[in-house]
Parts: sequence; C-alpha cells; structure tokens
Amino acid sequence: MEDSLSNETTLNQPTAEGTRLGELWSILPEESSRIDGETGGELAIGGVSVTALAEQYGTPLHIVDEAGLRRQIRRFIDGLRERWPNSEVLYASKSFPAVGMYQLAHEEGLSIDVAGGGEIKLALAAGVDPARLHFHGNAKTDAELSIALEAGIGTIIVDNFDEIERLERLLTRPQNVLLRVIPGVEAETHASQATGGDKSKFGLPMDQAKVAIERMQAHPLIEFEGVHLHIGSQILNTHQFAQAVENISSTGTFATYDVGGGLGVKYTYTEEAPSVESYLDSIVAAAKAHLPAESKIMIEPGRSVIARAGVTLYRVVSVKRTGEVFVAIDGGLADQMDIALTQQRYEAVLANRIDEPWVESVQLVGRQCESGDLLVDGADFPEARVGDLVLMATTGAYAYTMSNNYNGALKPAIVFVQGGEARLVTRRETYDDLLATHAPALGH
Ligand code: LLP
Repeated sequence: MEDSLSNETTLNQPTAEGTRLGELWSILPEESSRIDGETGGELAIGGVSVTALAEQYGTPLHIVDEAGLRRQIRRFIDGLRERWPNSEVLYASKSFPAVGMYQLAHEEGLSIDVAGGGEIKLALAAGVDPARLHFHGNAKTDAELSIALEAGIGTIIVDNFDEIERLERLLTRPQNVLLRVIPGVEAETHASQATGGDKSKFGLPMDQAKVAIERMQAHPLIEFEGVHLHIGSQILNTHQFAQAVENISSTGTFATYDVGGGLGVKYTYTEEAPSVESYLDSIVAAAKAHLPAESKIMIEPGRSVIARAGVTLYRVVSVKRTGEVFVAIDGGLADQMDIALTQQRYEAVLANRIDEPWVESVQLVGRQCESGDLLVDGADFPEARVGDLVLMATTGAYAYTMSNNYNGALKPAIVFVQGGEARLVTRRETYDDLLATHAPALGH
C-alpha cells in the first residue's frame, strides 16, 4: 500500500510566510502542488493549473484528483481485506453520483451502494456489473424495485414490512437481501446526519427485525443473507462504529454484516479526522469480538472516499468593502448545499495567488438570494480582485450531489485530472437543459 504522505516528497508543496500554505496541503487533494503562474504562485491539481482549468472548462467547476482518489479507494479495499479477508467495500454513490465516478469505482474493484432508481440507471450506464449493486432506501417504490429486479441487482437492503410485501409480490426468481436494523447508536454528528438512533426513520428496531427476518427466511425466493446498519455521516469518533458492530451482533448469526459508511473527514485547517486504517482497526476489532469468524463484512463509505479528492473552483465576481469585506463568487448555495443543510464548515483559498500574504479575513459569499449563502465565514485571503480564482477545498462529497437550480443556477461541470491532463466527465448544464423539462408549457 502506498504511503499517504508519499506525494509530499515529490510534489512542490511549500510554505510561505504570511500564508497558511503549510496547513493547506492536508485538506487539498493529495496531488496538489504550487506552480509558477502569470501572477505568481498558483495551485495545480493533478499537475494542471487552476487557471488553465478555469479557462478551458469555465467556473464553477468540480475538479477531481484521480490518482489521489484511486489511492484512497485502495486504502479501503486493501485495508479491509488485510484485516478481514471475507469482505466487500461498497462505494456509497450518493456522495458523488457522476457516471465517471461509477466507472472509476467499478474499475478499482468497489461494489456500489445505490439509493434509488436514478442511481441504478447511472451505475448501469457506467457499465457497473448489476450483481455488484446494493439497493438501499426506506421508501423504494414498486417501479424502482422492478427496475432493480429486471437489471438483476445483487442485493436489496430491505427497510420495512411494506417492502417485504412488495418483494413477496414482485419476485420471480431468487434474490439476495439484507435487512436494515436500527443499532441504537446516537451518532455524534449533525442531527440531519445521524441515522442510527432509536428514533431513526431508517430500518427496524431489533424486536421487529426478528419478526421481519423470520418472515423473509420463510419465503422461497428471498435469500436472506444478513443485516445492515448505518449510524450516520461525518462521524469522527471511531468507537461509535465499534459500538454499532457490537449492538448488531445481537440480531443473530448470519452470513453477512454490512456495517455501513459514515467515516468523517478533515474539512478545516484545525480539525482532525481518523485515518482509514484506524477506522478499519476499530470495526474489525469489534467484529472479531462479536461477529461470527466466517461471516462476511461489508462497509459502504462515501464521503471519506471522495471528499478530499474533490475541490470546487469559482471566479470572483465582486469585491465589496462595507462593514465587512464581501468576496462574491459565481456560484454559491446552489452548488454547496451542505453549508446551509448541515452547517458544514469549509476552507477556501485564492488559488491563483497562493503565496502572496493572506492579509484579510473575508466573508466568502455566493450569488443565491439568501443571507445563509455564506460559503466561508472568515476566509484568509490576499486582497481579492474581480477575476481571481477561489478554490473551495474538500468539496468532493455531497456538493455535486445536492447541486440544484436555485435562482436558475446551472449545475457545474466535472473534470478529472491526473499527470498534467484533464478530462471532462460531466458537462456543465446549459440554459437549454434548464428549459427542457418545461417544454410542455412552452408548447414544444
Ligand atoms: N450507507 C448509507 C445507507 C447511507 O445512507 C449513507 C449516507 C452512506 C452509506 C454513506 O455515508 P458517508 O460515508 O458518506 O458518510 N446530505 C449529507 C450526507 C448524508 C449522508 C447520507 N447517507 C451531507 O451532505 O452531509
């Protein structure tokens, strides 16, 4: 396995007085570096300068460090296999549902967690083997289950009794299923991201789970494999994962235990997050203590796979000095929903002038009609000018996912960068795309 720090010995990642460059590298993609640009030092991701990327693809732009991403995926797959050979790593594709990402994940050997008909379609379009798809969700409709069954989906993670009734009615051949169980762990994270507590809308409590399992085991076409749990997202305390593994063991002895995703990542200069290795140590230690030795363990990380590898690039549209310094960019809440939804904090940097002294603490704001459209409250910048490039770090997970058309915003394009080359994997939405669904009202 490659050392996570290996890139730092080969890339130009300097520090500079009056800046926070030294701290910046640990939240930027692994393959980030400083290069000489027209206006001084600028950032390059995957060896491609941000100026070149902005010129060629426009802004706002999602940029993904492909080599860093592949390395992170291997940390999960190899790390779990070394500790528990009978294992499978699923990529929680809701964190970044781009066809190019499904392709890359499949190539690297990840199975895929899909949570709806749309994600099944995206995964199939990317050429993912349907047997490697695992279908989640607390309100799967007949139509979605039919799409899944017709595709020959690998596993369905059943959430409730109504879904069992649907499967009993729709199944025409044997189908592997897991049951989502509430493990009774209140995750220490934002309330909207905690999904393992007793009041969760996902899964069944232990007593009802036992009834559901008996019912499924009695059905001739339901191949009941085991149980699933997911305690929430952006969890920084690895003991909570271990606790969930211990709690779920009381549901019974099964072939498979899927212990979900949720590992938190480092978003800010000062925050710390557990390594993949310490996360795996925690869950596997709990599995060794509480789960059958011959069982299969599955995990389904999303955020921790893609968050650091992805950044978002914007252009400064206006700089206003009133009581505050407002630096306004050509995107906002419409492409960074997490800030309003989960109060997630991010860091941003003036990417085309990185080694000028960072002299001002600015309000980095977007263009949507909300005062909550504050991307960074106190970003350290050199004196920003119209046309500068702003890079928001660690925005690989859930930003593109939740991008929307607020104020007629267009969803950004996505480029993958590696070894000095960029490739477009998702184009920017156009005004025609925006109008297309309104065609009936337009009469064409
Ligand atoms: N498995 C299941 C069943 C899930 O519901 C999720 C995330 C994951 C795995 C992956 O969790 P991760 O490793 O990414 O933490 N909208 C929120 C995040 C919601 C997470 C939803 N479920 C946000 O933007 O922060």
